[in-house]
Amino acid sequence: MKILGIESSCDETAAAVVQDGRLVLSNVISTQIPIHTLYGGVVPEIASRKHIERISFVVRKSLSDAGCSLDDIDAVGVTYGPGLVGPLLVGTSFAKALAYGRHLPLIGVHHIEGHISANYIENKDLTPPFLCLVVSGGHTHLVRVRDYGAYDILGRTVDDAAGEAFDKVARAIGLGYPGGPKIEKKAKEGDPFAIDFPQGKVSDHPYDFSFSGLKSAVLNYLNMCEMKGEKVNDADVAASFQHSVVSTLVGHAMMALDEFGGDTFAIAGGVASNGAFRSAMEEACKKRGVRFSCPAPILCTDNGAMIGAAAYYDFKKGNVSGWDLNAIPNLKLGER
Ligand code: KG4
Ligand code: ZN
Repeated sequence: MKILGIESSCDETAAAVVQDGRLVLSNVISTQIPIHTLYGGVVPEIASRKHIERISFVVRKSLSDAGCSLDDIDAVGVTYGPGLVGPLLVGTSFAKALAYGRHLPLIGVHHIEGHISANYIENKDLTPPFLCLVVSGGHTHLVRVRDYGAYDILGRTVDDAAGEAFDKVARAIGLGYPGGPKIEKKAKEGDPFAIDFPQGKVSDHPYDFSFSGLKSAVLNYLNMCEMKGEKVNDADVAASFQHSVVSTLVGHAMMALDEFGGDTFAIAGGVASNGAFRSAMEEACKKRGVRFSCPAPILCTDNGAMIGAAAYYDFKKGNVSGWDLNAIPNLKLGER
């Protein structure tokens, strides 16, 4: 079964053809990062317009890269939430028109479910149950994947998402948008133990995360240095901040493994492309004799292939959407 997966929830216009949920035949991503960099973050109205301009071309290219035409496509999967409403509407409207016009099933996909499903592409033999940490610009969710499409949320961020913290700290030290890759690069020149930043924990909810305190601690540190006339070592700030985020994420992940068991731990989302995070998770899982699954970096940041993979398992469960499918900016995981 070949599914065309479409993703447009934020600043990537993406489409892919995926066979049987696991085999990526094409994966086209048109990023708007250079445009939004001018403004220091994603401007929703501009993002919507750029999606409109690009979506036709991106879908056509995903078909030609896969060596197929619309005649070969069996279903259309599309992200319908959560995300920015304008960008989501562009993707859902396009997918609805295409599926209706071609008499194809339409499958609305939850964006986080898409991120988790990138692991099925990376590891062809991975099957639920497993634990997964989804860390992106909009989400930080610790999830128990009971079955395809069946999730228990063990913990989530109560304020900023991990990627959001990377973006805000990067802006504060003048690295620009998107912050994650820039902090990672800068951190390579710094000492992760130079500054003792707090962990992103929530005291009475052990599986929840809170990164706004850490972000404030970094901002306070920068202000304090300025007041004292001390020169800030940006690389040390980046390395120490990254170290704090990574140890919080790994700490929560291992606590969940200790309590819930299982033989596999997966990561997903844009922050999962961070090398320091990937290697810390790999080492911690190895120590416990647990299999570690992480998608290739290109499948961690937003893409259409993960949506095609998730759509396949939704379809197999009979979850086909109606023509009234709408964009839902605050869609909860596990809701339809
Ligand atoms: O999954 P994604 O592409 O979009 C959302 O669903 O949010 O994630 C984007 C987020 C941004 O906050 C970006 O700074 C972060 O992922 N990110 C990273 C890295 N690459 C992207 N964070 C840390 N290290 C990276 N290498
Ligand atoms: Zn995402």
